[in-house]
Amino acid sequence: MAIHPPADRLWWKEPLATSEVIWIAVAFLWGLVMFFTMIYWHFAGEQNLSSEAYKISPEKFAERTEAMAAKYKVREEGDTGVPVVRPPAGTDIYMFGRLWEWWPVLELEKDKTYRLHLSSLDWQHGFSLQPTNINLQIHPGYEMVVTLKPNKTGEFSVVCNEFCGVGHHTMVGRIYVVDAK
Ligand code: CUA
Repeated sequence: MAIHPPADRLWWKEPLATSEVIWIAVAFLWGLVMFFTMIYWHFAGEQNLSSEAYKISPEKFAERTEAMAAKYKVREEGDTGVPVVRPPAGTDIYMFGRLWEWWPVLELEKDKTYRLHLSSLDWQHGFSLQPTNINLQIHPGYEMVVTLKPNKTGEFSVVCNEFCGVGHHTMVGRIYVVDAK
């Protein structure tokens, strides 16, 4: 029992029991397997994106997003009149999260590549693209940049999957993917 001192005070000099050596080896090897599985699954599992992250102030990010929206707005939708923005293929595109919306709505062309920049203007939000199940943590002060090439047309929802207050469940955005003109 650990509350009494060991009978032999130099207990750590005793040789390891075989079963102990086996368990240490098993645990160590399993640790290695799990570690390399993470790396393997990043490429083979097609679940995790290779995203980049950079520091950027919320003000600067808002400025870039608003500039893009002003330049490429094609229409407005919903009660709030959120702009639907159709930036040219191959460009840098922006979307921010804030209490409680994803802004703006993006309209992208199928089979064209974009660099999507995501950031938050206030708190931590979770970018979850449905139904494709792409998930990214979105923090103020940092932008996540994802290179994406939509391979399906349709309407995709952006759900916030990080609890961010009383309006969390209403924080839904949209991305349209349309055929190229
Ligand atoms: Cu934003 Cu939950």
